[in-house]
Amino acid sequence: MDTLKTRRTVRSYADRDVEAALLRELLETAMRSSNTGNMQAYSVVASRSDAVKQALAPLHFNQAQVTTAPVVLTFCADFNRFSKWCAQRKAEPSYGNVQSFVAAAIDAVILAQTFCVAAEAVGLGICYLGTTTYTAKGISEALRLPKLVLPVVTLSVGYPVEDAAVKPLSDRLPLDGILHEDQYRDYTPEDIDRIYDARESLEESRYFVELNKKETLAQIFTDIRYNKENNESFSVAFVDALRAQGFL
Ligand SMILES: Cc1cc2nc3c(=O)[nH]c(=O)nc-3n(C[C@H](O)[C@H](O)[C@H](O)COP(=O)(O)O)c2cc1C
Repeated sequence: MDTLKTRRTVRSYADRDVEAALLRELLETAMRSSNTGNMQAYSVVASRSDAVKQALAPLHFNQAQVTTAPVVLTFCADFNRFSKWCAQRKAEPSYGNVQSFVAAAIDAVILAQTFCVAAEAVGLGICYLGTTTYTAKGISEALRLPKLVLPVVTLSVGYPVEDAAVKPLSDRLPLDGILHEDQYRDYTPEDIDRIYDARESLEESRYFVELNKKETLAQIFTDIRYNKENNESFSVAFVDALRAQGFL
């Protein structure tokens, strides 16, 4: 429990390899996690070569972790292998649809997060790369993913450099801000003020608001980090990727 409470994202890695045997053991452990119908409709691409990491870097908007981490793991929703098995066993697969993609994506994310917990427990550091769904089609090409395989999350993995280990924990909302007893109770304006107060009061938040010449912290999200233009264009690109990989 304590290791979970003190974990944080690690973006800077020591010049130390993640041994292949350890990586395999962590992934095998993660594969014990629940998955839809035990179909295991997921695959993981472990990229270690400079060539592939360099190809992935621009697709992750050149975030440094992609090339500085010893290993980059791309977790994919994968109905390719399962469909092939069905076809070879006189069963008619029908997994080229959104429902199957969602089920496979959920399983791939559960696998990834279980891997993270296991990896952090042995002293590794991880960083999720949300850019995966922004450029899923390009990543599919770079990793040579066949039809019915689509990347959903990427992790950079490595041993933390010293100063990453002492980076302060990032804030979280109070539990009562996200927990609803019995049924959902919608938020009043007073609830919203109370739930976001601590985060808005952080020195770091005030700094970003001032630096970006904004009025509120929320505007950092709506106008800069997760803005309408990007959300809409990445949505179109993702639907395109779903179609290209045969899920639509
Ligand atoms: C789906 C997902 C996508 C993320 N994408 C990125 C990313 O592209 N780059 C990055 O540096 N961190 C990324 N993160 C890490 C978050 O920024 C981080 O988890 C959050 O700020 C909380 O910090 P903590 O993990 O240190 O507690 C992502 C996390 C998740 C779960």
